[in-house]
Amino acid sequence: MSVPERQRHFASDNYAGICPEAWAAMAEANLGHAPGYGDDRLTAEAADLLRETFEADCEVFLVFNGTSANSLALASLCQSYHSILCHETAHVETDECGAPEFFSNGTKVLTVHGPDGKIDPAIVDHMVGKRSDIHYPKPRVVSVTQATELGTVYRPEELAAIGARARANGLRFHMDGARFANAVASLGVAPKELTWKVGVDVLCFGGTKNGMAAGEAVVFFDRSLAAEFDYRCKQAGQLASKMRFLAAPWVGMLRDGAWLRHARRANEIAARLEAALRRIPAVRILHPRQANAVFAALPPGAADALRARGWRFYDFIGGGSRFMCAWDSTEDDVRALADDLATIVGTR
Ligand SMILES: Cc1ncc(COP(=O)(O)O)c(C=O)c1O
Repeated sequence: MSVPERQRHFASDNYAGICPEAWAAMAEANLGHAPGYGDDRLTAEAADLLRETFEADCEVFLVFNGTSANSLALASLCQSYHSILCHETAHVETDECGAPEFFSNGTKVLTVHGPDGKIDPAIVDHMVGKRSDIHYPKPRVVSVTQATELGTVYRPEELAAIGARARANGLRFHMDGARFANAVASLGVAPKELTWKVGVDVLCFGGTKNGMAAGEAVVFFDRSLAAEFDYRCKQAGQLASKMRFLAAPWVGMLRDGAWLRHARRANEIAARLEAALRRIPAVRILHPRQANAVFAALPPGAADALRARGWRFYDFIGGGSRFMCAWDSTEDDVRALADDLATIVGTR
């Protein structure tokens, strides 16, 4: 049997292309010349739009990807003898090839357990209190991912509780927001309710998974922490000379709310996928679906059989198969995947 060509997959939201708003803004930016290294009009506009979005006088830096955003942000919060507390499934621990440790000259990442990819606020006290001697890498930062790697979302009060425990223990609060847009869309709250109002010091706001070609914004709500961050970016190869092409998509996405429309749409498609998978008795949903990812335990052999029909998805996160929806995922995609799975497991 030949493997069907699928136009879209459920492997990752970074499989998707560039959304029309980001694409159009890139085309606009492509007219004429402009100063390099961020001294251009679009970079200023992107930073202003981000400040407007967060209703805060934050300091903003645009970098190429999430690994650099997270690791440089974390490095700016730590000395080499410090440690970063995060969930055991956190991208900074599992998928950044040690970049947070590398860029901080050795800051140790300490992981904690917690159901569905979330940190319990009490764990902060536990991790700080269990050792205070000179031999232990001193906890300095709590890092959470919003939405989490397991597709769940922290509610504002959960974040506020973590922020309070961080502050009480003298720790900084970092948020990996690769899918921050999906979390905002899921909760229907203002971005400030998930960030500076709950004590987040720095957010790495993802643009790539939201529909841009590339780009994340490092948003410092505590401006003092951003001192010399521009040098960190440059040294790490993250200062774009044609910065306007990192900035333009943010302008295109933020100026008319496209970032939220696309995130909402991806979440809605994931909700439909969850509903379709729940109708297949042999399939078990693994984590609460709260954003744009559905995790499922498939019967033996079903994942391979789906792949043989041309579907791509991940199996290495969250103990099952991960189906991630993107800004351009469609109801037809959901129907086709669910029909194939139902056929494979014999319920059609
Ligand atoms: C939770 C999370 N953080 C950050 C990233 C960004 O990583 P990258 O360096 O590939 O842009 C990803 C991408 O998969 C992610 O899922």
